[in-house]
Amino acid sequence: MEKPKVYVTREIPERGLKIIRERFDAEVWPEYAPPPKQVIIEKARNVDALVSLLSDKIDAEVFDAAPKLKIVSQLAVGFDNIDVQEATKRGIYVTNTPGVLTETTADFAWALLMAVARRVVEADKYIRSGKWKVGWHPSMLLGRDVHDATIGIVGAGRIGSAVARRAKGFNMRILFYDVVPRPELERELGAKRVDLETLFREADFVSVHVPLMKATYHLVDEEKLRLMKKTAYLINNSRGPVVDEKALYKALKEGWIAGAALDVFEQEPTPVDNPLLTLDNVVVAPHISSASYETRSKMAEMVAENLIAFFEGRKPPNLVNPEVVNVRPLSKQF
Ligand code: GLV
Repeated sequence: MEKPKVYVTREIPERGLKIIRERFDAEVWPEYAPPPKQVIIEKARNVDALVSLLSDKIDAEVFDAAPKLKIVSQLAVGFDNIDVQEATKRGIYVTNTPGVLTETTADFAWALLMAVARRVVEADKYIRSGKWKVGWHPSMLLGRDVHDATIGIVGAGRIGSAVARRAKGFNMRILFYDVVPRPELERELGAKRVDLETLFREADFVSVHVPLMKATYHLVDEEKLRLMKKTAYLINNSRGPVVDEKALYKALKEGWIAGAALDVFEQEPTPVDNPLLTLDNVVVAPHISSASYETRSKMAEMVAENLIAFFEGRKPPNLVNPEVVNVRPLSKQF
């Protein structure tokens, strides 16, 4: 049997790519920057599978050009870049890489939180720019305590829960908002499920961990930011459009809140003239929360496993549109 054809939109870590190259007739986009949409459309014409990244827009236009496409295996837990409804209609399976990146992403939320609260980036710049002229001063670079403070976790799924577990070690009061109850968080961590208004009002650190969808677009808007304490911080390493950046800029500039730490932006890469970048009380990173050697390798392996399961006629372990099975029943294709 001929090997199924796969187009891979970037050089993913070798652990996954090696398996894909062995089992499939694979072509890989070789550049660091993403392929233009037109290239994805051209390549999709002739393949059975796509391996996508969160920066690739995989929508009806791509699917319409791809009569043989059966599965999109995405290297990310979030999949807001893929029009899943359109995929399902056409019998195209969509998979993601949840779980393996949970702890790594939670670690980075904490790196952001600590960095903004204790002014780590400002302190680094302070030394390098030659401002450190006095050895020690009682009011040099004062920040806010993390221990014993209140953290408000917006979205207590896998990643939000992992952030909450870390908060326990800092003896924090843990509030969370989620559309579903999380009794284990209440039981194990003494966390409290509250409404969004209470969370924004009471938290010293609001950390956002929801997927991007219609209901979460600009969830953190002017109204929510105005509820926050003047001494509170916003941390976001979920998806940029969950936060209204214009409102956030106003909040920071006018001192409604103390600071923000962002790994994600409404537009990525964010333009260098994004006004948020002019503010010292903002810590930024270029969407790297899952970027550890170990985790990215595991994600790449999962991408390969999802593809192999599908072509062997098994349900892919990380299928995000299980109802697709009714449109295209599983069948062995290797
Ligand atoms: C990264 O943002 C991911 O969704 O995996």
